Amino acid sequence: MTTRLRHLISLRDVSGAVMTRFLDRAEQLRDACAHGTRSLDLLRGRTVLNLFFEPSTRTRTSFELACHRLGAIVVNFDINNASTNKGESLLDTLHTLEAMHLDALIVRHRKTGTPEFMVRHAASGVSVINAGDGNHAHPTQGLLDALTIRQHRAEFEPLTVTICGDVQHSRVARSDIHALTGLGVQQIRLCGPGSLLPSAEEFPKLILSEDFDAAIEGADVVIMLRLQKERMAATLLPNEQAYFKHFGLDRARLARAAPGALVLHPGPINRGIEIAPDVADGPQSRILEQVANSVFIRMAVLTELLAR
Ligand code: NCD
Repeated sequence: MTTRLRHLISLRDVSGAVMTRFLDRAEQLRDACAHGTRSLDLLRGRTVLNLFFEPSTRTRTSFELACHRLGAIVVNFDINNASTNKGESLLDTLHTLEAMHLDALIVRHRKTGTPEFMVRHAASGVSVINAGDGNHAHPTQGLLDALTIRQHRAEFEPLTVTICGDVQHSRVARSDIHALTGLGVQQIRLCGPGSLLPSAEEFPKLILSEDFDAAIEGADVVIMLRLQKERMAATLLPNEQAYFKHFGLDRARLARAAPGALVLHPGPINRGIEIAPDVADGPQSRILEQVANSVFIRMAVLTELLAR
């Protein structure tokens, strides 16, 4: 029996066995929820704070739903009306919220390292879950993408996965890489314009390419990414039409992938920029399954960290 995690900041140091435990537990929780949406009570009496300093639709809502389904109390911190806007420091905000006796903080912040900062400064009983920091990590997204793939493919080892788009600014890509590598995927290809690809030193074992037609050839899974303009220097901003021509996923390009290849995208999607509408809504798209799985993965993570 492996020891339980206290925090979830990145998947870099989480073993394949522990990740498999999360995926298995998410499936058990999905089955338990299928018998009704009544709360499971596994986290009754626990208090969780959603601390999102960046916009979010899917991640924040699914964490909130996950808490409700587990019987925890969840509070959403409203950044637009918070005192951080009056100049309060992150540390003072943390200590103020902590004084209200929290069990977990779910943190999203544009600055890489903010969740680790919270771990260092939070009271010892408080668990921290990273819901996305800068371009560094988004561990629950990595896990839910792995779960979505596992639902359709028996084994991770033989898969070829192509991740295309603004990889350089993507915490999702980094967490997907850590999740899939840890679970045994042998071949991961990263594709995008040179200015939006990470350095080969960061991922020495992966294939980096600026040619999407080549990178998608025979792929079993294609993960598309949004152009994260909010993290991009103005000089990197591509012309959207030219971008779609070279790096957009349309039906013709998808036909180069393995038959029945799975199409994933963490959302929000920009139709016609990184993905054609008929592919996003098409039979190979798993985008809404990712969203459905996000609740169960987040329930699994919350239970691991917080169940008594
Ligand atoms: C992603 C994020 O915020 O990192 N969205 C998400 O959590 N599903 C990806 C993105 O914003 O492009």
